[in-house]
Amino acid sequence: MSELKNILKNKKTCKSIWFMRQAGRYLPEFRKIRAQNPNFIKICLNSELSSEITLQPIKRFNLDSAIIFSDILMVPYALGQEVNFEKNLGPKLSEFKMSELLINNEKKFSQKLSPVYKAIEITRKKLDKKKSLICFIGAPWTLIIYMLNIKGNNSDLNIEKLKIFNSNIKQIFEELHEYLCIHIKNQINAGADVVQIFDSWAGLVPIDNMNDYCFLPNKKLVDFCKKSQIPNICFPKGINEKYKEFNETVKPDCISLDKDVDPLWIRDNLKDVVFQGGLDPRVMLDTEEEIKIAATKYIKIFKDIPYVFNLGHGLLPETDPAKVDSLIKFFRSHNG
Ligand code: CP3
Repeated sequence: MSELKNILKNKKTCKSIWFMRQAGRYLPEFRKIRAQNPNFIKICLNSELSSEITLQPIKRFNLDSAIIFSDILMVPYALGQEVNFEKNLGPKLSEFKMSELLINNEKKFSQKLSPVYKAIEITRKKLDKKKSLICFIGAPWTLIIYMLNIKGNNSDLNIEKLKIFNSNIKQIFEELHEYLCIHIKNQINAGADVVQIFDSWAGLVPIDNMNDYCFLPNKKLVDFCKKSQIPNICFPKGINEKYKEFNETVKPDCISLDKDVDPLWIRDNLKDVVFQGGLDPRVMLDTEEEIKIAATKYIKIFKDIPYVFNLGHGLLPETDPAKVDSLIKFFRSHNG
């Protein structure tokens, strides 16, 4: 059993380290591939290439887990929306149409994403048995943000636009749940052994909809994972003190902390869950000494309980890989 799976399933106190966005833009070897491949979706649909990118940070740093190189927006893509990544503008999706969502079926969906599953198969064969291969999905709310294009440029929610979809919203959540379960199942069958559920925009859920748009959809996905014995990690980014209610309602195996929640409060108030992450990714832009001090805070707080070291969000593109290397060595010197 991989080390991460062992921590999540058996609540072992051994330590493990990986980074969100560990395969990506801060790595020169990724940028080289990216420069030759202007279409991001096509990279995700090239099994050999995405497997190679998945393994780049493992080769460089010998991290404890690999996360498959793909994107949460591969699901809207497979459900029929066009997805484009415009430089500095973020992802842009073609107009959402309910009728187009409803003409999908499991076979068609799985077929469209088969290169992702193939990439997982290839990667699993090449990856050390002790290392986890993490697969992931976006939680329905975070996908809906992109699918309905309801976020302004400065990360605020366009409530008026969301209201336009009022009569369809429940059905959209339900449809997404079905396809997300299929996507998890297919990725696990291909060889992934842990799933991370990214609710990166949970912080934008209107307070009155917290239960329906965040807690319940995450709980349904976690329940599916539990029924299928799939170790799971939830990341409800930006919900602050609601992390406690989230944990009590959703009951994931592991909860990933963002940079804004106080790790000490989390440790003392959230029960029966493994903790992951928390360190502000911007800290990685500081000096090595400052990084060590900031990391020590998390290492100390979670010293005697199961903890997976990670950041409070993904590695930033401007991060120096040498600093990532030095943080990993520092972490391991404390967790021999
Ligand atoms: O290394 C890994 O973590 C695995 C690969 C991975 C990517 N995206 C590759 C990627 C993972 C786990 C994701 C998840 C993802 N994608 C999330 C959830 C995590 C988070 O960051 O909040 C979200 C919200 C997305 C949607 C998305 N994809 C955005 C907003 C963007 C553009 C801006 C950005 O964050 O880079 C992407 C593109 C994307 N996905 C890139 C990578 C390496 C950059 C592509 C490029 O080179 O232009």
